[in-house]
Amino acid sequence: MSVGETALVRLENVSKVYQTGTVALQDINLTIRDGELISFVGPSGCGKSTAFRMIAGLAEPSDGRLEVLGMSPEEARTKGTGVAFVFQDATLLPWRSVWDNVVLPLELRGIPKKRQREEALRVLNLVGLADHVKALPRQLSGGMRMRVSIPGHSSQGRNCY
Ligand SMILES: Nc1ncnc2c1ncn2[C@@H]1O[C@H](COP(=O)(O)OP(=O)(O)OP(=O)(O)O)[C@@H](O)[C@H]1O
Ligand SMILES: [Mg+2]
Repeated sequence: MSVGETALVRLENVSKVYQTGTVALQDINLTIRDGELISFVGPSGCGKSTAFRMIAGLAEPSDGRLEVLGMSPEEARTKGTGVAFVFQDATLLPWRSVWDNVVLPLELRGIPKKRQREEALRVLNLVGLADHVKALPRQLSGGMRMRVSIPGHSSQGRNCY
């Protein structure tokens, strides 16, 4: 991705206070540039997931300014910029098979059936689960459930499959 001088992610004095009164983040400043690999490390409950949810446009900061590729996080998520978010826990529909869970986001985006099949097969091969397409989530290990979940979430950012 070539983005010139535009930061991939920029947080300026970002705070997040939940309705419960919990201050999850306070006055955070961070710039992530093209080519950098960043990890958030900290004790449980220190606000890592909160920061990711805001960067992904799934939660609003209470204060401060947050940009992704020079846009609002919501814009960056929906404009096919390749921004993707993998949740901490697998989020699968328990009544849908592995196959049906993987094609769900493609169905929701109105992708033609033939392309849905090609994409689902490709990503299931990629994560080593092509032999488990008929299994229900409860029949998988935790790691396998995450591997089913990752392509689904990544497909929210259009170019990530
Ligand atoms: N939706 C919510 N409503 C109220 N409080 C919340 C909500 N989500 C998170 N919190 C609180 O905000 C704080 C930060 O939570 P967060 O999930 O960002 O932590 P984390 O660093 O990702 O933790 P972990 O390493 O355990 O995943 C915690 O005190 C948590 O209880
Ligand atoms: Mg977390």
